[in-house]
Amino acid sequence: SWTMASFVDQTIARIRKLVGPEGQVLGAVSGGVDSTVAAKLMHEAIGTRFHAVMVDNGCLRLNEAEQVKKTLTEHLGINLTVVDASVQFLDGLKGITDPEKKRKFIGGKFIDIFEEEVKKIEDAAANSDRAGKIEWFLQGTLYPDVIESISFKGPSQTIKTHHNVGGLPKLMTEGHGLKLIELRELFKDEVRELGRNLGLHEDLVMRHPFPGPGIAIRVLGEVTPERVEIARQADFHFINMIREKGLYNQIGQAFAALDPSRAVGVMGDKRVYQYIIILRAVQTYDFMTANSYPFDSDFLAEVATRITNEVAGVCRVVYDVTSKPPGTIELE
Ligand code: XMP
Repeated sequence: SWTMASFVDQTIARIRKLVGPEGQVLGAVSGGVDSTVAAKLMHEAIGTRFHAVMVDNGCLRLNEAEQVKKTLTEHLGINLTVVDASVQFLDGLKGITDPEKKRKFIGGKFIDIFEEEVKKIEDAAANSDRAGKIEWFLQGTLYPDVIESISFKGPSQTIKTHHNVGGLPKLMTEGHGLKLIELRELFKDEVRELGRNLGLHEDLVMRHPFPGPGIAIRVLGEVTPERVEIARQADFHFINMIREKGLYNQIGQAFAALDPSRAVGVMGDKRVYQYIIILRAVQTYDFMTANSYPFDSDFLAEVATRITNEVAGVCRVVYDVTSKPPGTIELE
């Protein structure tokens, strides 16, 4: 009969057989549960012959790059390189306001940065006497991502381009001649169960999904470093308060976004003219449809007070009560 433990053993055996005793595998990780589970399986199967790469696009959550690095390297023992490309992403985002253009730019840049990193790893491998060049690319994306990106394609138009589907595997296989290893047969609750089985901490296992373009699609319109930082701080307070109330696991996804229009407010005895923070929290089964989470009004008022007190540049906080459809979960 099918059990998680036998699934793990079989997957590890399958990876070892496929890759052979010397083969090296490369994979992109984000710190989310899907890519971490995939990376952990690779690590269990082939140790340091698996090379994980995480790109910091300057639009991650507060302290995320450090935390992911710590978890993956210290706790899970995964061979990980974090590439700090924040400046390149934030510079390139200047002047872009259209959501799809942001996604295209970020997806393309991610591929460029990843490719540079691959060259470095390949050069290092060529210059050492370690046997085995990188031959494999890990596609750790799971079914729901694939389903969403297909369902987003209407008869004449792509509604949203999910940047982690398609582009990178295509480049790595066609451009670099790598062979694809796919770990994509699991659904989200199975991935979580597998994560627990592999020793991932509960807060990583239950972590809300985070889009590849990150805070860049949570700053409406033009992205500037200042706006990203404000949205990031507001998000940090909102998520902390959700955790303090014990609500985190009842919510499918929650975050703060920034509306770059400004509103008038009064702080102390001064008139201010500052950004608006939009809070979003949804209950969802499959992320294809969703309902706004019914927080009580006292909680929302406390969040507004905390954010306006703690985050400079914000004088209004609003809560988005739109369902999906007609809204989407993200605001862009
Ligand atoms: P929407 O906003 O379309 O989001 O209702 C559904 C789920 O997909 C995530 N999402 C993305 N993930 N790249 C990603 O990797 C993207 O470009 C992207 N856009 C949306 C979103 O966070 C939600 O979980």
